[in-house]
Amino acid sequence: MCARRNLSAKQSRRHNLEREALKSLASQAALRADVGSALASAMDLRRILQKCAEAIVKHVEATFVRVWLLNDDQEVLELQASAGMYTRINGTYSRIALGKLEIGHIARKKTKYVNNDIVHHSRIHDKKWAKREGLVAFAGYSLVIGKRVIGVVGMFFKHSITRTILDTLGSVADAIAQGIERIRAEERLRQLSGQLLRSQDEERRSIARDLHDSTGQDLVALATMLGQLSGLTPSKERKKRLLISECNALAEKCIREVRTLSYMLHPPVLDHAGLEDAIRDYAKGFNNRTGIRVELELSPRVGRMEREIELALFRVVQESLTNIHRHSGSNRAKIRMYRNSGLKLEITDIGRGLSTSEQRGKEEPGFELGVGIPSMHERVKLIGGRLEIESTSHGTTVRVTIPFGGKRT
Ligand SMILES: Nc1ncnc2c1ncn2[C@@H]1O[C@H](COP(=O)(O)OP(=O)(O)OP(=O)(O)O)[C@@H](O)[C@H]1O
Ligand SMILES: [Mg+2]
Repeated sequence: MCARRNLSAKQSRRHNLEREALKSLASQAALRADVGSALASAMDLRRILQKCAEAIVKHVEATFVRVWLLNDDQEVLELQASAGMYTRINGTYSRIALGKLEIGHIARKKTKYVNNDIVHHSRIHDKKWAKREGLVAFAGYSLVIGKRVIGVVGMFFKHSITRTILDTLGSVADAIAQGIERIRAEERLRQLSGQLLRSQDEERRSIARDLHDSTGQDLVALATMLGQLSGLTPSKERKKRLLISECNALAEKCIREVRTLSYMLHPPVLDHAGLEDAIRDYAKGFNNRTGIRVELELSPRVGRMEREIELALFRVVQESLTNIHRHSGSNRAKIRMYRNSGLKLEITDIGRGLSTSEQRGKEEPGFELGVGIPSMHERVKLIGGRLEIESTSHGTTVRVTIPFGGKRT
């Protein structure tokens, strides 16, 4: 009788444990689902992080959860979301310097810190407060993308946390980091598309201005002179010759202008003769216009590639040479194109180089500078390549690498 009672007590304990384990698994699944749907929503980033923090509070019974993101200077963690016992985001810990307090330390070390007995053994600095509030455990995860830390999630609990919950929290923190990165990339792309549209408008305006103010005026003058010419009496032979030579000169000028404009819009040689000839042609015109000597080292092994690859590489050459003319102060440029394991294109100058803030811009395509460098990055990314800019006070190299060398046609 007694043995049977013991057995059923054991069974019921086991059932309870199984029920608890299932409940915990269900909560963790619900947490992942809520965080996933918050990250996929169209809300702004702050609102999304707030939803994620609330989901953690709800599903793993955290007492409070906070999310900090590193600011643009990479020096201060700024509080973005706070759920549970504290919901203000402008209080004492709204700004934490990198390396300061436990949160700043986690960010600096790009690590996590978990403690199930914070009142007695932890690096949490205000233990009296933790004791007063009945807090037992802390879990802090850095939000990391590759080698870059972008923020920290910190969580306090009134109960200790199990290994499975910690694993779930770790993967939720990873999902939040990836989500933030994707949302920021989309935002950068939106800004860049806006900038590209604006610069396209600006380009159209400038073409319209050129056509109207220069070519248009020349054509009006040409028409006037042709009118004068037809009204001349046969005896005015000298005046006739003079007018004809002026008409010729104006017609030549109009032809040159239209040719330059159409070349800027889309070089016809790119389609029928390919990238190498288009670069040779463009470099020659560039040298005539600017006086900057362009040395070419174009390997004949490159051959023809897909149309969009040739166009993207041509646009990189165009933008890099324009930048050399506008910003570098260099009187020489060099373009190299060759194949080794992939395809390489390099445009080099011996000018003053990019400043430190511009260097940041070239590493973080979203960093606000001009449109030229970010759009080169985007174009090259779209054809599966990588663009790097190496710059010192002695010159700049724009380097494009396409790993597979682009598909030959
Ligand atoms: N070859 C270079 N040498 C020195 N500085 C450069 C060079 N290329 C770019 N820069 C610097 O980097 C900045 C950003 O270049 P980017 O091409 O993105 O914009 P931009 O040329 O100023 O304007 P745009 O949007 O018309 O291209 C430039 O303003 C310039 O200061
Ligand atoms: Mg530019």
